[in-house]
Amino acid sequence: MQRTSARGNWSSAIGFILAALGSAVGLGNVWRFPYITGQYGGAAFILLYIGCVLAVGIPILLAELLIGRRTQRNPVGAFRILRPRSPWVVTGWLGVVSGFVILSYYAVVGGWVLHYLYLSLINSFSGKSPEQITALFANLNGQPWLQVFWLLMMMLLTILVVSRGVSRGIEAGNKIMMPLLFLLLLGLLVYALQTDGASAGLEFLLRPQWHKIGPAAVLEALGQALFSLSLGMGTMVTYGSYLSRQTHLVRSAFFVGLGDTLVAILAGFVLFPLVFSFGLEPSAGPGLIFRTLPIAFAQLPGSYLVALAFFVLLSFAALTSAISLLEVVCAYFVDEQGWARKNASWILGTMIFVLGIPSALGEQFLGFMDGLATNYLLPLGALLIAVFTGWVLTRDELRNAFSAGEISPFRFMGWWLLIRFISPVAVILIFLHQLGLF
Ligand code: TRP
Repeated sequence: MQRTSARGNWSSAIGFILAALGSAVGLGNVWRFPYITGQYGGAAFILLYIGCVLAVGIPILLAELLIGRRTQRNPVGAFRILRPRSPWVVTGWLGVVSGFVILSYYAVVGGWVLHYLYLSLINSFSGKSPEQITALFANLNGQPWLQVFWLLMMMLLTILVVSRGVSRGIEAGNKIMMPLLFLLLLGLLVYALQTDGASAGLEFLLRPQWHKIGPAAVLEALGQALFSLSLGMGTMVTYGSYLSRQTHLVRSAFFVGLGDTLVAILAGFVLFPLVFSFGLEPSAGPGLIFRTLPIAFAQLPGSYLVALAFFVLLSFAALTSAISLLEVVCAYFVDEQGWARKNASWILGTMIFVLGIPSALGEQFLGFMDGLATNYLLPLGALLIAVFTGWVLTRDELRNAFSAGEISPFRFMGWWLLIRFISPVAVILIFLHQLGLF
């Protein structure tokens, strides 16, 4: 028990929810979701995605939170407690390794965001030609050490928050950043809906193109649901481990799952009106945010504030996710190796910074690390967590992990069936798809 209190706790339910939302809301929402929605036919894909969040995402999210709250440990310790001396501890190890891998390149992209925040601060977009704007990204990519500098800044910010602890650092940071992120998003939405391209953008997003929905779209939606909710590496086990039994887990899981989805959809409603107002390419893909969107910022009235608001929002999204990635790694060294939190965050953060340098120096290595994490580590982790919850833990163990009155017998059965049958099958399909097997 003494160890448990030394690890820290959330000071309020809303603080925990904002932190979990902060982890989930990231570059995946503002950048990847709108662009795959564009590729797979707007409204039809959005409906499909909501279905995946409800049937697969939220059940796994609830499983991770429940395991964390029940054991009050990092992912490795959690599996050790639930099944001592069993190979299941590997699932925890996988999570810690994923934390290293993902943060090392996520922080590089976060660094690009900080660079663009700086560019918007010094008013680098307004009045520039599309060629000049595109050159800004090439310019950043051509200066590897500039990227290393911004990677360093991103890691320093992340370390500073994590080293302050669960409630004074992570919770306090998210309590400031997440409401601001939401306000900025709403402000940008109001703005975007008044631009010339608003109706074209809305039509693009709202007209369902059912013919684009096939197996590929379903798997894309499933994979995106897992990634966007930060599942598969014990992030939510870790965040759940700082909870007391009083927090209503079922409600929290719904709130986080649906809140994350709302932010992703709203981001689409901000981006596409701008894309259509300036005749940009809706399926510009990875370059959309850095190469294409600033072209709109260059020509908009009030572009200085719009660009600034957008990149502040994006910086918050990246930073709050990076914080949760570092926290998984730190929690392991604090719980299992007895390190002090300050030392853990500085030492591990420095190691991740070094591991990120190759990603900053070459986009190919970044792509490799991203592929490793999203194609292999995260789906494998999600599969193991779903199988462990649905097949290894007994139904009594699961029931006892919930507080009295937290989940009705009916809902419990629904969740148990989803986590036992639907989630593993869904994740296996994503896996096979990403391995190129069909
Ligand atoms: N959910 C984050 C996003 O949407 C990315 C992410 C995936 C993540 N897995 C994670 C963040 C684990 C933190 C921890 O951008």
